[in-house]
Amino acid sequence: MRWASSSVIGRELAMTGYRVVRCAREKEQTMTDATTVTISRSGADEHRIGREAYLSNEIFERELERIFGRSWVYLAHESEIPNVGDYRLSWIGRQSVIVTRRQDGEIGAMYNRCAHRGSTICAEATGNSRLFKCPYHGWTYDDTGSLLAVALSSGYADETFDKATHGLELVPRIGTYRGFIFGSADPTIIDLTDWLGDASRMIDAFVEQSPTGKIKLSAGRHLSRVRANWKFIGMDGYHLNFVHRSVRDALGETDPNDAAGSLQLDMENVTSERSPNLTRDLGNGHVRLDYWPSRIDEIDARVADVEKSDAGRKYVALMREAYGKERAEELIAVASPHTAIWPNLQLVDIHVRTIRSLAPDLTVVEMAPAMLEGVPDEINVGRVRQHEFGYGPSGFISPDDSIIFERCQLGLQAGGNPTIELNRGAHRVRVEDGMLTGHFTDEVTQRGQIRQWRAQMSDGEA
Ligand code: FES
Ligand SMILES: [Fe+2]
Repeated sequence: MRWASSSVIGRELAMTGYRVVRCAREKEQTMTDATTVTISRSGADEHRIGREAYLSNEIFERELERIFGRSWVYLAHESEIPNVGDYRLSWIGRQSVIVTRRQDGEIGAMYNRCAHRGSTICAEATGNSRLFKCPYHGWTYDDTGSLLAVALSSGYADETFDKATHGLELVPRIGTYRGFIFGSADPTIIDLTDWLGDASRMIDAFVEQSPTGKIKLSAGRHLSRVRANWKFIGMDGYHLNFVHRSVRDALGETDPNDAAGSLQLDMENVTSERSPNLTRDLGNGHVRLDYWPSRIDEIDARVADVEKSDAGRKYVALMREAYGKERAEELIAVASPHTAIWPNLQLVDIHVRTIRSLAPDLTVVEMAPAMLEGVPDEINVGRVRQHEFGYGPSGFISPDDSIIFERCQLGLQAGGNPTIELNRGAHRVRVEDGMLTGHFTDEVTQRGQIRQWRAQMSDGEA
């Protein structure tokens, strides 16, 4: 048991409205981990962090061990391996992992490292096979990792070579939540449900965009290589009016009823000082940009917008049938939980985003649009178009985000100030619904992530 379950109170999140419990500035400060690593001690407190956390090879190696090696890491979605024999490559830090749907239908995960001299045994990102044959000398394993055969076996004496002890290493812990498959290299880690805590409600909201409560990552995925540190990616509510100003500039006067126009209006609602929207710290490093307050005001208009087409009317009807009118309309209006689940999964707009850190200054961001089960095809086609608009390789949002992350990485090369600031809104943070909460533009999200980062990075060195 390394990490206690979420400190936030287990209640319905944004769907239930808001209640100020008490001012929590002191609480937030006391939650600062006193046992910080060297980098954190160098002038850092809850509200800032040393720039070396984004630059240092030594710290990155430590992240691989202590963050990615001791967390529940998102590996894949069940819909990517629906059939017996399906597999998909994934990663825990730098360790290549094969996620399989075994012959018994169970999900497994094993390290992609031959027990002989270490070659990867699988190079295809996805496929179907019950056997994995190493390309170097032909050792062959089944989909549970058992070594079935060695090539030219007379070179191994029966008395001294035991195939049973030369299988593939299994990932010690595997867990799933509503189709999301997680693995951990740490056999002692707390259960997945405790790790997720209240963030599981955000997964619920994401999959319950479907009337059957199931999504499929069947529309493909695209990857971006970003020359920036993984901790920069996502969950910033302060930048929209600046980094994404090009959306407004490019679109000019736009029909508010189409996708672009809706986004334009949304930006205006969320980026001003008057915005009712919030930043949320869900605990355990999970954080959220909460669009609920502005979208609830538009609930009727948003539902009516969906109902403009035959497919949309059918979709809304299916949702009401599945969840009841109120919950269904809330789900449709809010649409996205915009949540980061520590350390490598983000649910943004309609896509599942995976963060893969390769080096202090190199991150691969993978995005897979989530298709909804049990809806008219037109709904899913619309979701893909929506995704392309904002997040596709030539979309209006992601490319600009990547550039600004790379500019941060470049800017931090400059000496002088040893820290970066995470203190926006520190004077007005509060507890609502049992979780640290701030204005949409406040750095509650960054502080929540860095608090978890410090806790894991300093473990055992108090
Ligand atoms: S490295 Fe795999 S069989 Fe030799
Ligand atoms: Fe952005």
